[in-house]
Amino acid sequence: MTESEPKSAKASEISLNQLMLPEHANALGNVHGGVIMKMVDEAGAIAAMRHAQKPCVTIAIDSMTFKQPVHVGQLMVCQARVTFVGRSSIEVQILVHAENLLTREVTHTNSAYAVYVSLGSDGRSSAAPPLLLETDDDKTLFDAGAERQQRRTAR
Ligand SMILES: CC(C)(COP(=O)(O)OP(=O)(O)OC[C@H]1O[C@@H](n2cnc3c(N)ncnc32)[C@H](O)[C@@H]1OP(=O)(O)O)[C@@H](O)C(=O)NCCC(=O)NCCS
Repeated sequence: MTESEPKSAKASEISLNQLMLPEHANALGNVHGGVIMKMVDEAGAIAAMRHAQKPCVTIAIDSMTFKQPVHVGQLMVCQARVTFVGRSSIEVQILVHAENLLTREVTHTNSAYAVYVSLGSDGRSSAAPPLLLETDDDKTLFDAGAERQQRRTAR
């Protein structure tokens, strides 16, 4: 596969899972927002690097709202999928779920969009492969991602 050959979102999507322990939480047993944000960023960075096959750094993380708590003893699941690629910028959607391992009940706790930049050997931004849009869903996500990226860079 050449560097400029388009790649699908499916080819780089990942799920990063971790059991939440007391060290991740406050006294109420709710997982710290910072722990969730770190895992979100890691999942996004992995998807971006899988897509670019180059080192990637985080340039932006959109605001995050914690709608539902993640509790100690639950499995935190971060699903990351590339939604938009510019030249070197790669937007990744990260969906966060908490799974109760005893009941298998799954709660969607929050979502985030983060942007990564693929780097060349000089440490500057370097082109990433274009995103291959295979489905209507891919196209919808890409168009929305392009609009978000336009707003981010205009700021
Ligand atoms: C990422 C970095 C290398 C980019 O520097 P650069 O080579 O001068 O970057 P450019 O000006 O070419 O911009 C790179 C891309 O970022 C995009 N970008 C710039 N500002 C942005 C923002 N606020 N939000 C989202 N994307 C942004 C640009 O539009 C460009 O995208 P494109 O190539 O798809 O058009 C540099 O900003 C950096 O080192 N930042 C620190 C990263 C970091 O430490 N992150 C935390 C740890 S991973």
